[in-house]
Parts: sequence; C-alpha cells; structure tokens
Amino acid sequence: MKSVTLNSGHQMPMIGLGTWRAQPEDIEKAVEAALNDGYRHIDTAFNYNTEEPIGKTIKNWISDEKIKREDLFITTKLPNVGNRPEDVEKFLEMSLKRLQMNYVDLYLIHMPFSFWGDPETFAPLVNEDSTFQLHDDNDIVSTWREMEKQVEKGKVKSIGLSNFNIEQIERICRSSKIKPAVLQIELHAYLQQKELVEQCKRHDIIVTAYSPLGSPGANSHFISKYNYSLNNFPDILGHPTVRNLAQKYAKTPGQILLRYSNQRGIVVIPKSLNPNRIKENIDIYDFELIEDDMQALANLDKGEEGRIFDFLFFKGVEKHPEYPFKQRLTEDGKRLS
Ligand SMILES: NC(=O)c1ccc[n+]([C@@H]2O[C@H](COP(=O)([O-])OP(=O)(O)OC[C@H]3O[C@@H](n4cnc5c(N)ncnc54)[C@H](OP(=O)(O)O)[C@@H]3O)[C@@H](O)[C@H]2O)c1
Repeated sequence: MKSVTLNSGHQMPMIGLGTWRAQPEDIEKAVEAALNDGYRHIDTAFNYNTEEPIGKTIKNWISDEKIKREDLFITTKLPNVGNRPEDVEKFLEMSLKRLQMNYVDLYLIHMPFSFWGDPETFAPLVNEDSTFQLHDDNDIVSTWREMEKQVEKGKVKSIGLSNFNIEQIERICRSSKIKPAVLQIELHAYLQQKELVEQCKRHDIIVTAYSPLGSPGANSHFISKYNYSLNNFPDILGHPTVRNLAQKYAKTPGQILLRYSNQRGIVVIPKSLNPNRIKENIDIYDFELIEDDMQALANLDKGEEGRIFDFLFFKGVEKHPEYPFKQRLTEDGKRLS
C-alpha cells in the first residue's frame, strides 16, 4: 500500500475504506474483508454509526495478533453538533470509547458550520418549520485550538478539516500552532477541486477525496432521509471516457477513477460493502495512466456543477455564517440548479 507523509510526520495510506451509509453488522464484515485484503486505513465519523463495529473488528484482530494498532490509520470526525471548543474533547472521548482505542490517527472537524444537538441522542435539533437549529456564532479558530490540545494530550496523532473552503482554511492556517495535516473534501472526476488542491499543496496539507466514485446511491439516501434530491444525479462510473479507459487498461471504471486521483497525489476512501469491490478498489497499483489519459480524465471536471454534497439537505444551513458553499446559491439564497 502506498503512503504519504503528513506534515505531522505520520504516514497515511493512500487508500482507505469509507464507511458512511452502512448498517453496523455489514460494516463488521466489510472491515474484516478489507483488513484481509491489505487495507490499513479506515474512515469513519461520530455520526456514521460505524465506529463501534469498526472498533470491535479491529480489537479482535489485535487480540488475535493478526495486526498491531500502530499498523493502522483510523480517521474519525467531530460532528457538526459538537463544533465548539467546549465539546471537542467530549466528542473525541465518545468516539475513542466506541472505537475501543486510546488514540485516533486523524481527527477532522467534519463541517465548518454548527448545529445545536439533543444532549441525549446528539441528533441535530430542528425547528417547527423543519429548519435546523443553527449555532451561528461558532468560532472555527477556537474549535481548532481545542483540536490542537488533543494532539498535545496524545489522543490524536494528526488533525485536519473537512468541507472547509479556501477562506476558512486560510483563517485556520493563519492562527494555528499546529497546521491542518489533511483536508477531506468531495473530489471526483466531475469535481476536481483544482484550486483547493493547489492551496493545500502550498500549505503542505494532504487532500483526501471523499465520494471518489461519485457516491452512487447517495441520491436515494438523500430522498429517503431528507426528502431532498439532486437533479441529474451524476453517473461518473458510466461516463464513456471512464469506460473506454477501463477497457484499454483491462481494469474497472472504479479502478480508473481511484487511480486517477491517487496519481494526482490525492488519498481516496471509497466505500463498499461488497467483498469483490472492496478487493477491486485497492488493486490499483499494477498499472499507470499515461499523461494523455490523465488529461482526458482532467477534462471531465465540471467545477461547481459537479458537486453532490452541498449539504442543503440540512434545511436552512445556507444561513449559517460558516456555510462553505455560498457559490452554490443565488442572490436570494436559493440553490443554483
Ligand atoms: N467528510 C464528509 O463530509 C464525507 C461525506 C461523504 C462521504 N465521506 C466519506 O467518504 C467515503 C466514500 O464516499 P461515499 O460513500 O459517499 O461514495 P463512494 O465511495 O464514491 O461510493 C460508494 C458507493 O459506490 C459503490 N461502489 C464501491 N466501489 C465500487 C466499484 N469499484 N464499482 C462500482 N461501484 C462501487 C458502493 O456500493 P457497494 O457497497 O454495493 O459496493 C457505494 O454505494 C464515505 O463512505 C465516508 O467514509 C465523507
């Protein structure tokens, strides 16, 4: 497995297993299969509900002496209901408990905006008109200072950001003692994030691509959970350029997309519950895309129009001062179609 060195000095494997949108029992099987196939990097979050099954499976592997904790790279995230300085350590402790670990390799602020949450269930609170209750004076810099303290306490090896925009990243970098090691953002062939990737290179921040395959299936989740859907949900795996390259290199469309991002120096965290696809997604190092083919894939970029996750399914989030994708909105606050 290829790795990159983070600005914290730690190594991060360039492919990890994504675990969003899965039942706990399915995740145990997926993590088991992934570890058997050689994955050593797993991505989770407080609000995915997958920390417990991940922790359980890893604990078994460690007690069976099949693996050592230091061989693994585990990422989890501070939820948007805990996005304030006084909540950082509390939520990190809860994640560590669920994972049955005494540290995580990477802790990310999941989103720059913040909601008020139910103190028992930690679900975001919603108003009568179903808008989310915004905690609208959250200060991302103060939250970051608390993240830094968790590194000093040894509870996390590296810290980073997710879903932050260029201006927010600059603000954090200007006032940080410990710079973000990683930025995790939506990134795939239709949303290549060239400007953000360049900014991260300048700051020595490694970019991780979430939804690197275009998150097939996310739209049905948006509809069932939030009664929200995207028009023309993209099918990147089915794009003729991707399919032709798959044929040319005798690989699958998924492998072409993952290899493309890895060749750009970007870490990928594809999610799969299917044992064959779990294996397939890590098997991308026996071929290399030539420059012309890299260019053909670069040409698929649709910029902002390629974005799937604008988080507008959190009704009212666009009114939060730290909502990161204001470019998605018309002047009167509606989503650009
Ligand atoms: N920071 C954030 O805000 C954020 C947001 C979204 C996601 N994430 C993280 O990023 C991970 C990946 O993103 P994602 O789950 O949205 O999308 P994704 O990895 O792009 O796509 C996952 C979907 O693709 C299918 N799939 C997997 N491998 C495939 C292959 N080789 N060929 C065809 N289909 C394949 C999976 O179905 P099967 O299971 O049936 O294979 C699953 O439905 C998440 O799981 C999560 O860990 C982070």
